[in-house]
Amino acid sequence: MTTRLLFVCLGNICRSPSAENIMNHLIQQRQLGERFLCDSAGTASYHTGSSPDRRMAQAAQAQGIDLVGRARQVTAHDLAQFDYVLAMDRQNYRDLLALDPVGQYSDRVRLMCDFCRRHPDQEVPDPYYGGPEGFQYVIDLLLDACEGLLDYVLDHPVAPSR
Ligand code: 4NP
Repeated sequence: MTTRLLFVCLGNICRSPSAENIMNHLIQQRQLGERFLCDSAGTASYHTGSSPDRRMAQAAQAQGIDLVGRARQVTAHDLAQFDYVLAMDRQNYRDLLALDPVGQYSDRVRLMCDFCRRHPDQEVPDPYYGGPEGFQYVIDLLLDACEGLLDYVLDHPVAPSR
């Protein structure tokens, strides 16, 4: 059985590709590769086809993590396909729920920071218009959230509605 995790932000070039690649890094470290499938997407389409932001990739590389992948826009079909859909901020969360007006999959959509154990943050801040420290902070926050999420999904491997 494969647990499918989708990470979602606005542009899919900063926060969500970082979350996806950090999660894959942790999954490999724990030799759990067979059990999980990770992807990421953006609520907006303007960066579709783009590689991760260079500033974000530098901050991830400083922690030994390569950012790979190309941006795509999230679809309503994703909600049916993935067990967990992790929103980086509350606006992403609202935009995801709007893809599912009946609420059939709303229990699959979660805020990423709900899985943090070291940080009090409730949202992953958008680093796009800020300086390098914002990108470093996103990586640190996502390492925390991904560790918490991995422990959670090991205990709860499929969406309640699957
Ligand atoms: P992301 O960051 O949602 O973490 O990928 C952003 C990327 C691009 C823009 C905003 C946020 N933008 O306005 O183009």
